[in-house]
Amino acid sequence: MRTDIALPIRLADYRAPDYLVDHVDLDIALHAHETRVVARLAIRPNPLGQAGAALVLDGDELRLLHLALDGVVLDLAAGFATSQRLAIESPPQRPFVLEMTTQLDPAANTKLMGLYRSGAAYCTQCEAEGFRRITYFLDRPDVLSRYRVRIEADRAEAPVLLGNGNLVASGDVAGGRHFAIWEDPHPKPCYLFALVGGDLGAIHDHFVTQSGRRVALGIYVEHGREAFASYAMDALKRSMRWDETAFGREYDLDVFNIVAVSDFNMGAMENKGLNIFNDKLVLASPKTATDGDYAQIEAVIAHEYFHNWTGNRITCRDWFQLCLKEGLTVFRDQEFSADQRSRAVKRISDVRGLRASQFAEDAGPLAHNVRPETYHEINNFYTSTVYEKGAELIRMLKTLIGAEAFSRGMTLYFERCDGMAATMEDFLACFAQSSGRDLTHFQRWYAQAGTPVLHVAAHHDPIAQTFTLDISQTTPPTPGQPDKSPLLIPIALGLIAPDGGEIPLAAGAEHGATPAELHSGIFELSGGSRRITFTHVAQCPVPSLLRGFSAPVRVESGLRDADLLHLAAHDSDTFNRWQAVQTLALNILMRSVENLRAGQPASDQPAFVGALGAALAHNKADPALAAQIITLPGEADLAREIGKNVDPEAIRSAREALRANIGHSLQDMLHDIFQATANHGPYSADAASAGRRALRNGALQLLAAGDPTIGHKLAQAQFDNASNMTDQFAALDILSRAPQHQREPALASFYAQHASDALVIDKWFAVQAMSPAADALNHVQALTQHKAFSYGNPNRVRALIGNFANANPARFHALDGRGYDFLIDTVLRLDPTNPQMAARLLGAMRSWRALEEIRRSKAHATLQRVAAQAELSADVRDIVTRSLG
Ligand code: TRP
Ligand code: ZN
Repeated sequence: MRTDIALPIRLADYRAPDYLVDHVDLDIALHAHETRVVARLAIRPNPLGQAGAALVLDGDELRLLHLALDGVVLDLAAGFATSQRLAIESPPQRPFVLEMTTQLDPAANTKLMGLYRSGAAYCTQCEAEGFRRITYFLDRPDVLSRYRVRIEADRAEAPVLLGNGNLVASGDVAGGRHFAIWEDPHPKPCYLFALVGGDLGAIHDHFVTQSGRRVALGIYVEHGREAFASYAMDALKRSMRWDETAFGREYDLDVFNIVAVSDFNMGAMENKGLNIFNDKLVLASPKTATDGDYAQIEAVIAHEYFHNWTGNRITCRDWFQLCLKEGLTVFRDQEFSADQRSRAVKRISDVRGLRASQFAEDAGPLAHNVRPETYHEINNFYTSTVYEKGAELIRMLKTLIGAEAFSRGMTLYFERCDGMAATMEDFLACFAQSSGRDLTHFQRWYAQAGTPVLHVAAHHDPIAQTFTLDISQTTPPTPGQPDKSPLLIPIALGLIAPDGGEIPLAAGAEHGATPAELHSGIFELSGGSRRITFTHVAQCPVPSLLRGFSAPVRVESGLRDADLLHLAAHDSDTFNRWQAVQTLALNILMRSVENLRAGQPASDQPAFVGALGAALAHNKADPALAAQIITLPGEADLAREIGKNVDPEAIRSAREALRANIGHSLQDMLHDIFQATANHGPYSADAASAGRRALRNGALQLLAAGDPTIGHKLAQAQFDNASNMTDQFAALDILSRAPQHQREPALASFYAQHASDALVIDKWFAVQAMSPAADALNHVQALTQHKAFSYGNPNRVRALIGNFANANPARFHALDGRGYDFLIDTVLRLDPTNPQMAARLLGAMRSWRALEEIRRSKAHATLQRVAAQAELSADVRDIVTRSLG
């Protein structure tokens, strides 16, 4: 066992920096292998820091060529610097200038952090701690500086030179080189620094802000892909307008540029005035991108743009406050998408996503607070807990204090904290003030991990005409937090009468509820339990609980199938109508899994199938919603609900049996829907058209499940005639499950048609990674040898190996344990070149303890094999240690 694990960083140890950097002057001469960076830092002691302290700058794999303090050259042989840090023991206790030259090898930078090459372009990624790979610096978000950056490159190699802020000069340099100087007037932490140099195509547009300022917009892409950026440009302009109307936020520079690159560890990055994107979140055309891709592009363009205020103008004091910018910005992008599309459908798909990733994270060994209190490797905390649960906490805050006080709190936050590196406390103080409420109790959500469970028991007394709800909460223990305290949970609820009507809550004299609660329908659970009694309730109603998913909790309602059927048919809350169908399906599937494991068949479900048909008929006018209704809970949802002794293969069988049953029983109806939703006219990415395609393809999938022969025939025709990627890929997905003589030609033709488009080839890898075939693993392993596969490209690795491990549970968790070995071999192979990617992939093992015994012990042994490696990155070491811990 290794014992040299570094100590964690702790929130409690936060201290203000001893020095500040007011100004950063960079002169960067780009060369593939020998990039020179001259940095001049205007430094001064921080009055809030420790007087006379040593100046210690962060570095990472740096090579220092030159060092001078106030113009006096320092002898490097005196040992000022290692590759990982630069220290000046007794710096002047007045403002001074430190000048350094470092030399980088961007072409050898496979970690994709710092300055690296993507294709022929130079680009940067500095969040969280990448700037220290460019020059020595106080690489922490509470050091804010003004930047002036001169970029120089070969004109032929990099005619485009982009930086943060505004372009102030450009020109020629001898030897076929040229330069550009960019100045950013807004002080920023170094993680928001960016530059790009390359031979790129672009589209240009402009935006006039609400106060009449003209902003030049540019999106830079690989030559020949310009037309594929027009949807992103449109989404950008809509985002800019929306932030003005919804949050009163105006853009604050004359230029806003986006650059799409093919090699990127995450989705995108909000560098000031120069967002850098994974190209899959920029490039779209009807023939290459699905409706889901379009929706994601819109959401991420908005997300990164919204960071300009929530993240950049107001940044984080330290990385423990990551949710301050991420949770809030996800909330903002969710609201944007809800306004651009269908609010109810957006909520449903966000909650699906939250449950699939965040609930799973919260239930396993990697569970952590929305605001963590310790970390070993910050890269591992860009998680669905920080992002998606973080967004839920903002949403709950809004629910608790009301839209009006929330809006005033946001305005106060923007005014009070502008230019600051802030904390969650700074943020919440604005809402405490705007609402007049003490938010101490609410704040506990940030400091307690795990998904709370609401237990609800209902009782109707026909004589007294009362209806009583006993609601209590528990939160299961998570690593390091054995005992949980009650949280403040807003529960939106309604009562549905036997005739399907809504019982007005405020009608009678109720016990244990405030008038405000009865009026709004939002009840607050603050302690361990609570009883609410509604009076004048003559007939027993069905409670509709947690409407709109008013809190990120699980509900154990004890509702019977008949109650759920009633809600599915009558609830006025769209989310809960959908939820009722989901819960019904979940209950049935859980029983089926038990049956299958006991060697019995998955039972027939005529009542459920009938209700599903009714719900489908009832919601047909809203195809996007209907599509959500006919999509059963995923295999991961089932695994999470089952919670222990999980058998992923039994789960798949149960789910497939139910889908077959539905497809068979509702064949006529599904067929009618399939016909009625056929595409006419040119493709449009708008929500209504996307909704029709979602319903059509959902129907097709069920038809194929019910009768593969008919399904494959319809899919083949759709595949052959599809005019857009949504329909083509949906058809391919079905055909990829067909017998070989149908599967192979479809895959081959898809490949041939799209061979020149890497993003579509990712889909080709992905669909095979998700194959239900018994030999899927062999096939995936063979595909790692395919000429188009590369371990160096994160999108490719995620498409093939990420999808196999995360989206094909029945095959990944094959009983022989070979799936685990394959994943771990990949993790160990990637770790030396791209540890951030390796650690993310390893996260696929996070639910291993919930598996049944044979798989659990195989997974355990495989994780131990990782832990036993002598050489591991901090990233992978952290994940494996916590996974086993
Ligand atoms: N801040 C980015 C966002 O908007 C996240 C991000 C992009 C990131 N690239 C990264 C985080 C690299 C860590 C490492 O969500
Ligand atoms: Zn973000």
